Amino acid sequence: MKTLVTAIQKGGQGKTFVTCHLAFDAYERELRTVVLDLDLQGNASTTLGKFNCGFTASGLFKGDTKGLLKAVKEHSQGGLSLISADAALANIDSSMELAKAATALRECIAVLSEYYDLCLIDTAPALGKAMSAAVLASDYMLSPIELEAYSLQGMKLMNAQIDNLRKYNTKLKFLGMVPNKVDARKPRHVANLAALRAAYPDKVMPVSVGLRDSIAEALGTNIPVWEIKKTAARVATKEVRALAQHVFKKMEIAE
Ligand SMILES: Nc1ncnc2c1ncn2[C@@H]1O[C@H](COP(=O)(O)OP(=O)(O)OP(=O)(O)O)[C@@H](O)[C@H]1O
Ligand SMILES: [Mg+2]
Repeated sequence: MKTLVTAIQKGGQGKTFVTCHLAFDAYERELRTVVLDLDLQGNASTTLGKFNCGFTASGLFKGDTKGLLKAVKEHSQGGLSLISADAALANIDSSMELAKAATALRECIAVLSEYYDLCLIDTAPALGKAMSAAVLASDYMLSPIELEAYSLQGMKLMNAQIDNLRKYNTKLKFLGMVPNKVDARKPRHVANLAALRAAYPDKVMPVSVGLRDSIAEALGTNIPVWEIKKTAARVATKEVRALAQHVFKKMEIAE
């Protein structure tokens, strides 16, 4: 099983959009996939609600490997499973030691690896312990980013955090930033994208996603964007499929 965490401490950049669409795409590729929603807001848990396996995310930090095993054993046969966010996730950031949280999460990921090919982790917009533990327990990471000044500023902080956590997880591969909600008609976006690529030549993905209404509509109705029956959804579909292909190829789970 390969594990990918989607993280950036700034809110609204597209973490949940990317996580859910990679999950939908992987499901269609018949990759056995499990999604861990570590964000108290529970947005991915809503969008992927019908795939809920019954185990809740705070349990991943309590070392409840028996409960986890019971929940996923049968559910994994459906191809896509959700471990949904729950209120007790708040305690991880407020009162758990990072090393303990990371160890417990790693143990649960080891259990999941018997049943799934791919584990996708959605995180909260905070440099908290749940997010850091997820980075410590993952093989790959990506960060969606809007092309606005505050987001670019946020990415600087995120890069420092990744460099720091990488000392403790040397296998972590940063797949890159995913420019998201790009509006090619805005000179500011075009200039910011060029500046981002110049500043981080190896850290920006060659694929990007435009500002597409159909993406917000899809997430709000709990379906992938390719199921939106509007002409405008076609461009979004193409971009999202290209993103999934790029990511899965880099993770060596697609040709
Ligand atoms: N490419 C896009 N085009 C249009 N809308 C988008 C796009 N990507 C995401 N959105 C919308 O922007 C909002 C934020 O996206 P999303 O929830 O994925 O971000 P997030 O990083 O997970 O946010 P949070 O940090 O709050 O969890 C959502 O309403 C989503 O539907
Ligand atoms: Mg989110």
